[in-house]
Amino acid sequence: MTDHTASSGPILPYVLVLYYSRQGATRTLAEQLASGVESVSGIEARLRTVPAVSPVSEATAPEIPDQGAIYVEEADLRHCSGLALGSPTRFGNMAAPLKYFLDTTSGLWMNGALVDRPATAFTSTASLHGGQESTLLTMLIPLLHHGMVYAGVPYSETTLLSTQSGGTPYGTSHLAGPNGDREVDADERRLAFAQGRRLAELALALTSMRSARA
Ligand SMILES: Cc1cc2nc3c(=O)[nH]c(=O)nc-3n(C[C@H](O)[C@H](O)[C@H](O)COP(=O)(O)O)c2cc1C
Repeated sequence: MTDHTASSGPILPYVLVLYYSRQGATRTLAEQLASGVESVSGIEARLRTVPAVSPVSEATAPEIPDQGAIYVEEADLRHCSGLALGSPTRFGNMAAPLKYFLDTTSGLWMNGALVDRPATAFTSTASLHGGQESTLLTMLIPLLHHGMVYAGVPYSETTLLSTQSGGTPYGTSHLAGPNGDREVDADERRLAFAQGRRLAELALALTSMRSARA
């Protein structure tokens, strides 16, 4: 997976896999989804995260996170060919750090920078009925405001019909359990991979469409 900085500009088209994760479950889904992106030739995955937000306004995050991907910059989003957005469920909605980042993207919205780029979302919860679908459906709202084309997981991925854990047509999900220690299982991995692969294919198709229009 590419780690080149945003300021160097895109070499290959890339899908930005942007996530927030405290206990690691959403990060595991992000990495699996990124593998699906990279199974498509001609496009890369760029994994990025966002810093935590703190009720103490003077608190600052280290420049490099202790673990996982480096922090996203606006240019990572501006130049992406597709976006996969991942968040733990927090009271049935996305986590504040990710929402905080999205709330800084009005410049991209004003320029229509993300119009006609595909996007998808993924999440992790403690409990099976703890709000996976509501989180995914609310995550797509700001993406639609940006003019992005939302892609979920189609039922042609038949794992959706048989999974006993995570997996929704709105996006991949993971059941982490009450202690957050349940591993991402084979069905959840398969769906995350398929979601990434599909997003990459759509990203290439929509890039061609935009080029033909220009
Ligand atoms: C403030 C807060 C709110 C949460 N709300 C929910 C919830 O509504 N439903 C749920 O099932 N789990 C909820 N959880 C649990 C997390 O979604 C779950 O542990 C998730 O797997 C964490 O993902 P991560 O390992 O990527 O940090 C909440 C956790 C926190 C800290």
